Formats: sequence, C-alpha cells, structure tokens
Amino acid sequence: MPPLLDPRDRLIVALDLPDIGAAERLVERIGDAATFYKIGYRLAYAGGLAFAERLAAQGKKTFLDLKLHDIGNTVEEGVRSASDLGATFLTVHAYPQTMRAAVAGRGNGLKILAVTVLTSYDDADAAEAGYALPVAALVAQRARQAAEIGIDGIVCAAAEARAVRAQIGPAGLIVTPGIRPAGADLGDQKRVMTPGQARAAGIDHVVVGRPITGAADPRAVAERIVAEMA
Ligand code: C5P
Repeated sequence: MPPLLDPRDRLIVALDLPDIGAAERLVERIGDAATFYKIGYRLAYAGGLAFAERLAAQGKKTFLDLKLHDIGNTVEEGVRSASDLGATFLTVHAYPQTMRAAVAGRGNGLKILAVTVLTSYDDADAAEAGYALPVAALVAQRARQAAEIGIDGIVCAAAEARAVRAQIGPAGLIVTPGIRPAGADLGDQKRVMTPGQARAAGIDHVVVGRPITGAADPRAVAERIVAEMA
C-alpha cells in the first residue's frame, strides 16, 4: 500500500457508542482532528454500515471491525458486498480458508486485516478451544500464513507487534488497540502502550476508544495522540 502521508491517518477512533446519533455527535466534535473511525459489532448492528458509507462520502476513512469467519463462499461474497461500502479496513479471523476467501472478494481499495488470536485468550483458553499451540506460537503461525496468503495487515496486541512484524515483513500493516496516552485511565486494558511507544514498536495504526469517546474534549485528546505519533 502507498505510504499514508497524513499523520492523522495513524489514529483510528473506535466508535464504541450506543447509537448513530451519539456517533454523529462525536465525529462532529472531533472535526478534522481525526480522519479514521472504527465501527464494531455494536454500531454495525444498529445502522452502522449505512453510517460508515456516509462517513466515507464525507472523506473519512472507515474500519469495519466485523471479524468475519464462515465458509469460504460466504466470506468471499460478504467481503465483496463490504467492498461497496467505501471502507478502508475490514477484519476477518485468521483462518487460512477464511483469509483466502477474503482476499478473493476484496475490491474497491478495501484492505483486509486478520485477527490472529483474540487478546482475551490465554494459553488455557486456547487449550480449552482445542488448540495444541500456546497463544504466542499460534499468533506467529497465523501472522505468517496471513502474509503468505496476501492479507494486507494484522490486528494484534501492542506487545505482540514485534513478533508479528518478524513474520509479515516490512510491507504488512500492524494495527493495535490497547493504546493509552500517558496518564490516561486504563479501563479494562491490561498491557498498554502509549502512542509514541506504539510508533517505536513499528505499529502503523493505533485504535483508541474510551480515552477519546469519554473525554471532556475529544478533539484535544485526538490531536495529542496524533502529535505523539507524528
Ligand atoms: O476503549 P478502548 O481504547 O479500550 O477501545 C479499544 C477498541 O479496540 C475497542 O473497540 C475494542 O473492542 C477493540 N479491541 C481491543 N482489544 C482487542 C481487539 C479489539 O481492545 N484485542
């Protein structure tokens, strides 16, 4: 992908809000301080896909965090439909069959990001789900498979970024949540990085929700994060 020249594109604001009205108000308040918004399950199932199209029409970038996983044909056709929404990123789970189908269905500039192992999983959760490998090995294996299949980037925990980079090489995108500006409330995130540490770790885009959505001045927080990464 060509380099993203605007440093604001490195910040992705997670629109984890109850309804479209609240999301519209937040985007309005942030104004031109942010260019990129993530829409997850909560908003997607509450009118968020049409909202994503409106954001794209306004020149904003959107990240559809839908974490798709189904039989290949269904994933391919679903990704084809999502490609028409004008989104920039879409997530799928990093199963080889699912990733191949997503690559076959992507179009219109949509980039596919693979989620290796959900960061809520530890080794015991992976074993309970039937996996023989510990999480770190599973993350590395899936990141390598994603790169071989032609996936555009990986979503991973900040702490995994260096290991993922070793698997995918310099060209793939690394996108991470769990980012907190210095001094911010951690919420339920446990292992966090600051925006500056994320850049130093080779992370391309950071996903930040509550430090912005819950701020008295969300625009100022967005500006501070972008400045820290520039
Ligand atoms: O509010 P906060 O900055 O913690 O939000 C982070 C966003 O990234 C949320 O949308 C959350 O669902 C998402 N996310 C995460 N950890 C993961 C994967 C996604 O926090 N492992």
